[in-house]
Amino acid sequence: MSDRVLVIIPTYNEVENLARVLERLHASVPDAHALVVDDGSPDGTGELADTLAAADPRVHVLHRSAKGGLGRAYVAGFGWALERGYEVLVEMDADGSHPPEQLPDLLAAVADADLVLGSRYVDGGRVEDWPLHRLLLSRAGNRYTRWALRLPLRDATGGFRAARAELVERLPFDQVASEGYCFQVDWAWRALRSGARVTEVPITFTEREFGRSKMSGSIVKEAWARVTVWGVQDRLADWLPGLVRPPVNGPAEDAGR
Ligand code: GDD
Ligand code: MN
Repeated sequence: MSDRVLVIIPTYNEVENLARVLERLHASVPDAHALVVDDGSPDGTGELADTLAAADPRVHVLHRSAKGGLGRAYVAGFGWALERGYEVLVEMDADGSHPPEQLPDLLAAVADADLVLGSRYVDGGRVEDWPLHRLLLSRAGNRYTRWALRLPLRDATGGFRAARAELVERLPFDQVASEGYCFQVDWAWRALRSGARVTEVPITFTEREFGRSKMSGSIVKEAWARVTVWGVQDRLADWLPGLVRPPVNGPAEDAGR
């Protein structure tokens, strides 16, 4: 692997998971650097990340003062990575759900793509041990997103991805309003709309062993509301040339003014 790879790991209360996921990452891709983006976790994840970073020059930490959502954590991490010249940016959860052992598959695919989505719902992809309600929510969310946004993707909501820095640099992340998990849909769509080469590779997603999911009703509501507004605006724009087509030209709230 010749690209300089940065694996961005957002954390909120992941103290039982962080050391293990970094260990697995470095066993799988020894050259990769990691950036932990911690939102002031009350359980001490940020302090643990500092300790791990002091012992390993491949580990870096970005502290944010309060829980600001997954989307904002990634936007901050992307900015940090671009300033330092990393060539491939990876998104990965801290809880072990995204197996670092499969990262080489994503990195191989990103040699010929701008964005590679680790996908649970293509052939060969799997979800293990998820409670039925989460699986149904994820399947329904993906189905709705595909339909509303006419997206040719099986897993637009997933959070195990690899992207070329050139793509991240040219997308307008300063305009991304999505705070929660719909950030993933938001920027996959922006990437497609900008003409990027987006591919999906199968992954196995396994439910976390320790700690709790941060998924909440308000995160689900934000995602459904934004996807619905974007879908309506996008269809209106088919009929009314001149209407701003989301999301590439700006945040959804700005369209249609
Ligand atoms: N810094 C920061 N700030 N990190 C956060 C925040 C936040 O506000 N919210 C969540 N995280 C971190 C968690 O600590 C974890 O490392 C990762 O983001 C994913 O959060 P989980 O709470 O484990 O998400 P999940 O397992 O329920 O959801 C999975 O499925 C979603 C839908 O497919 C994840 O893979 C998501 O990325 C995915 O969008
Ligand atoms: Mn998780």
